[in-house]
Amino acid sequence: MAVANLSDLTNLNPSTLQAYRASVLHFTADPAQHADAYAWHADGLLVVADGRVLMVGDYLQLATQLKASLSTELEIHDYRGKIIMPGFIDTHVHYPQTDMIASPSPGLLPWLEKYTFPTERKFSDPSHASDVAHFFIDELLRCGTTTAMVYCTVNPTSVDAFFNESEKRDLRMVAGKVLMDRNCPAFLQDTAEGGVRESEELLKKWHGRGRQMYAITPRFAPTSSNAQMQLTGELARAYPDAFLQTHVAENTDEVAWVKSLYPDARSYLDVYDKYGMLRPRSMYAHCIWLDDGDRQRMAETGSAISICPTSNLFLGSGLFDFERADALQVPLSLATDVGGGTSFSMLQTMNEAYKVARMGNCFLPALRMFYLATLGAARSMRLEDTIGNFAAGNEADFIVLDPKATPLLARRSMRTESLEELLFALALLGDDRTIAATYAAGKLVHRREYPSDI
Ligand code: GUN
Ligand code: ZN
Repeated sequence: MAVANLSDLTNLNPSTLQAYRASVLHFTADPAQHADAYAWHADGLLVVADGRVLMVGDYLQLATQLKASLSTELEIHDYRGKIIMPGFIDTHVHYPQTDMIASPSPGLLPWLEKYTFPTERKFSDPSHASDVAHFFIDELLRCGTTTAMVYCTVNPTSVDAFFNESEKRDLRMVAGKVLMDRNCPAFLQDTAEGGVRESEELLKKWHGRGRQMYAITPRFAPTSSNAQMQLTGELARAYPDAFLQTHVAENTDEVAWVKSLYPDARSYLDVYDKYGMLRPRSMYAHCIWLDDGDRQRMAETGSAISICPTSNLFLGSGLFDFERADALQVPLSLATDVGGGTSFSMLQTMNEAYKVARMGNCFLPALRMFYLATLGAARSMRLEDTIGNFAAGNEADFIVLDPKATPLLARRSMRTESLEELLFALALLGDDRTIAATYAAGKLVHRREYPSDI
């Protein structure tokens, strides 16, 4: 039980406290490495003060202590029958691709040409960018995602539009301007110096402003010149606490292309390594066609993997190798990769991740999947002291899941005999309808409307 010192309570104004009664789940370690990796309070209480977690534990014990310590009555939100857990973290998603989700293609490279670049072109218009950012954030919250690592477009306007929308709702978000100075249409091209200069200006403007954080975002090695890669690596070294995000080893045609563009590199990942881009707070999406040498470099540099199962299946990119990634102990997280990905829901993403693991003869327990979508992601991003679990002092970003959200889920979850079974049913049968409510920094930011209210 994570409990702040109860003597502190005497100094607290009860009107700033919010308490939520439900079953409560959060992680303290990776279930793949520790048997005792999570806390589960079947009848639990989460207490929030000033947007942060104050304490979490068993309802009976905490409610008694709180009543004894507080001078006035504490209002308790009653979510009994539901499950409270930390908000989901999606470590790779493109907000400008919202309107082109579900666009079929024979593979990544033709998909980029046919749909992605023309769609991203529209984000030079600030009102279009704001409109899409607004919808995108609504959709994240409806699906229970409270933090995401977001790609904008090459246009700085698209970054301002996204952060303005996120800041309005006081969300903990990471985003950045795409860097792309070659192998793309002229209407989306920046220059080596110009793109990096704009990135630094945006970083200075947004990184650490409220809950917003900046990610240096070279799209992928084929669309940046050697000069842009060099300057981007220097920017990443100058701002070690900013994030870096890019794509790597997603598709075999892409891997062959990188080999022809960077003939001296040992591998695709090695291109980024040579430019000093493997470091803590760097997030590499896909990582399907890596070898063990690459995985070892990622582990020793503290670089993290963003696994994108719905996108990899949709575009026919390949199957992520969970066994080798775990063997080399690379930090892992899950992501939707919308618009290559086909759902905003991290539950649907777990569903597909499970099947991808099975195709590699691996088994992904539900506890592990929920870890990867919460604390595992926060650790991959070096944000575990801020989000990802209910340690006292962490930001109170949390969701309320309804195991009775649909008739089928209700019927299946009633017949579960363990937490693992229940979580598995939620991951395989759940989606946006499963999210009864979403809270960010202690404030209600989404509430699902039910015929018979929540
Ligand atoms: N590689 C380079 N850009 C992209 C993108 O927008 N989506 C995906 N899935 N892969 C990429
Ligand atoms: Zn992507």
